[in-house]
Amino acid sequence: MKIEEHYMRRAIELARQGEGRVNPNPLVGCVVVKAGQIIAEGFHQSYGGFHAERNALLSCGEEARGGDLYVNLEPCCHYGKTPPCVDIILEKGIRRVFIGCQDPNPLVAGKGTALLRERGVQVTNGVLETECLELNEIFFHYIKTKRPFTAMKYAMTLDGRIAADSGSSQWITGEGARRHVHMLRRRYSAIMAGIGTVLADDPMLDCRIQEGVNPIRILCDSHLRLPLQSKIVQTAGQIPTILACLEGNIFQEKAEKLAKAGIQIWQIAPDTRGRTERVDLMRLWEKLGEAEIDSVLVEGGGVLHGSLLNDGLADRVYAYIAPKLISGETNQGPVRGKGILKMDQAIMLQDSRIISLEGDYLITGKVTRRLVRE
Ligand SMILES: NC(=O)c1ccc[n+]([C@@H]2O[C@H](COP(=O)([O-])OP(=O)(O)OC[C@H]3O[C@@H](n4cnc5c(N)ncnc54)[C@H](OP(=O)(O)O)[C@@H]3O)[C@@H](O)[C@H]2O)c1
Repeated sequence: MKIEEHYMRRAIELARQGEGRVNPNPLVGCVVVKAGQIIAEGFHQSYGGFHAERNALLSCGEEARGGDLYVNLEPCCHYGKTPPCVDIILEKGIRRVFIGCQDPNPLVAGKGTALLRERGVQVTNGVLETECLELNEIFFHYIKTKRPFTAMKYAMTLDGRIAADSGSSQWITGEGARRHVHMLRRRYSAIMAGIGTVLADDPMLDCRIQEGVNPIRILCDSHLRLPLQSKIVQTAGQIPTILACLEGNIFQEKAEKLAKAGIQIWQIAPDTRGRTERVDLMRLWEKLGEAEIDSVLVEGGGVLHGSLLNDGLADRVYAYIAPKLISGETNQGPVRGKGILKMDQAIMLQDSRIISLEGDYLITGKVTRRLVRE
């Protein structure tokens, strides 16, 4: 491994410590190196807080002069909630800066690099670029589209089922895979499920790891079928929860009870393309973007996943696969929706990879091609 990759890996590791705390800002870590030794480290710790470079360099005195700085995202050169990182890099006399990837934010976008070069700093771009781009895929997507980055997550058996004949899906995978899901939940601003999943499994949709932050919970429930005794309603006072239902005042009484329990009711215009009217996901996604929710992990059943894929809203898939067979005539697959006629119309996942999790497997990859909305 090249030495600059070694330090960039450390910067990425540090950046991850901000997961769940900085959205909609990016995850950024920074390492300062002098004479082959790390002399300072920092990461972006909270939304609105100091950036990674400033957090690392603030603890440095004269010893940083002539040193190298590694950061996974291009340093900023504008005044936002905090002063520009380029200023402190110049002030501390850093000689070389190694950057993972450029910042697409129009306020930065190459300007940070240009300014450093103008002032005599040697800049190397693109160190572990693929890893750095994936680390901040949520930030890059949100800043470009103003809609949340969306991942579909499901656990399935090797014969493609997500529930047994009774409708129960707890648990398809083992503890290792389930721990991994909780790590994943920490990364996303929101977790979403359809009412079908809530009625079948009564899930909590929380983040059960040490120092984990609970994402906002979002339910797609067009007709307010959510039971008042469900775990989600019972815990709505502690975990922010949004329920997206159809607009109109037809569910007034139930809506009032849910609101009293702490649930935010969002009335959304209907999607009228199916047999029954449902929450229009495109409109919901626009509203989520306006509320600065930069990312959604959708843990639906097949119906909600099918709509997401058909509407072109899925950006990544996390498929947890258990080497089990359960067979059955009625139990479902993880993604329903319209489907395709021929195999060459299939959506290929890009940059897919497989991770082994104590006997189960995770396949993840990016959805880059969209189905066209009719
Ligand atoms: N293995 C796993 O990873 C996993 C995960 C989750 C669930 N499951 C299993 O999946 C089964 C439930 O599947 P499901 O497909 O019924 O659940 P789902 O996808 O979570 O919920 C579907 C429901 O969401 C509502 N919805 C609102 N707006 C929608 C829209 N635009 N598009 C699609 N749906 C919308 C619809 O009900 P309204 O029309 O009333 O709004 C719809 O019937 C259960 O057996 C559960 O155990 C397995």
